[in-house]
Amino acid sequence: MITEEENRLICEVEGPAPMGQLMRRHWIPALMSEEIETDGKPVRVRLFGEDLVAFRDSNGDVGLIDEFCPHRGPSLYFGRNENCGLRCLYHGWKFDKDGNITEMPSEPPESQMKERIKIKAYSTHEAGGFVWAWMGPADEMPAFQAPPFAPDADTKVSITKIKIPCNWSQIQEGQIDSAHSSTLHSSDMVPARVESAGASNTHWTRPSTDKSPRIFTQRTPYGFRYVAVRRPIKNARTSDYLRITVYVAPFISLIPPNDSYNVCSINVPVDDNNTWFYFVAWGDENCIDADEWRAFNHAVVGKDLNADYSTKRTLENDFMQDRDAMAAGNFTGVPGIPNQDIMMWVSMGAWPERQEDHLGASDLAVVEFRKLMVEAVKAFKDGSQPAIGTTQSGIPHRDIRSWQGIVTKDADWTQFGVGDREAEALGHAKTEAS
Ligand code: FES
Ligand SMILES: [Fe+2]
Repeated sequence: MITEEENRLICEVEGPAPMGQLMRRHWIPALMSEEIETDGKPVRVRLFGEDLVAFRDSNGDVGLIDEFCPHRGPSLYFGRNENCGLRCLYHGWKFDKDGNITEMPSEPPESQMKERIKIKAYSTHEAGGFVWAWMGPADEMPAFQAPPFAPDADTKVSITKIKIPCNWSQIQEGQIDSAHSSTLHSSDMVPARVESAGASNTHWTRPSTDKSPRIFTQRTPYGFRYVAVRRPIKNARTSDYLRITVYVAPFISLIPPNDSYNVCSINVPVDDNNTWFYFVAWGDENCIDADEWRAFNHAVVGKDLNADYSTKRTLENDFMQDRDAMAAGNFTGVPGIPNQDIMMWVSMGAWPERQEDHLGASDLAVVEFRKLMVEAVKAFKDGSQPAIGTTQSGIPHRDIRSWQGIVTKDADWTQFGVGDREAEALGHAKTEAS
């Protein structure tokens, strides 16, 4: 049972809040690389309650700086991005990607003022289709490591980006809640007599009709893995259908793959009440293209989303839920897997009142998330442990995988989906799927 104070520890991410500070000990996906062009328009980026602007300078390098000019405070979003810096329109002060002031035309040439002032600037790194930012203490910045969804430079990564008006944590809980997928997404994740999960342009298939999976969890140095065990359509007497999801704390989840691509989600707090949600398909050249992926998710900017990635479907317009479609057989009346989730997450309120929940057997991974993160944030706050996921575990993120498949009933689920180094770190030998 979670207390109100523990709930706040999970939810609060702004300023000195320990969960936000814990997250800042990780490289943060700040925006998609495709959002900024060399010498092009800057982009507003709000993270952990801080208003920033990102721009790509004349060298192609990314700056991520305070949105507001340190002179008198107007927004640099309206500034000129030229000759390796972003220039404030008001009096022309110019800032480079590292936060230095390179020009101050409103001051006399002999003025030393520009050497004395800097604008807040965060270090950035580009990988896997994202601009990542280091927002923790400068002297604690670790080397960047390849994320699980972009293990190699040539991994194909297709990203759906959505700004969601609720706390990061109920979105995170949705990512590790296998049971809901058989109900909420039942019109898009369709049971079929297949050997393994599949994907088409319109829906996913899975080899089970079972809506009440049995859940088992396993802690790992980076977070936890869990399995949802379902009755398969075929050979139910001798086999189980396993869907193994991985939580890479604090904000990455690896959802079980299908036969065409892997799936991952990332939740980055905009502030206490809003979240950047990234739904990522990744894999080899067979992975779905970004345009198709966004269309599949009904999350296309200009059509389903506004220019700032907020959804046109909102609580105020009932998420444009189509009751006629529901009567005709569609389960939710809302198209697109993320839109169905968003209707649930946002309708909980900005933060869930977790003390009021009535949790059952299918919520075991959600319970594990709450326990793990309350422990982690308390230990980080009192200084007894470093931020979860930041210690050397011997398990590179690029090796971490989710998994799904049909196995014999006597199989040990913890063996599936783990690479050699992870098997070694977790203390068991890996066996191949039967
Ligand atoms: S307010 Fe920005 S240069 Fe004066
Ligand atoms: Fe979902």
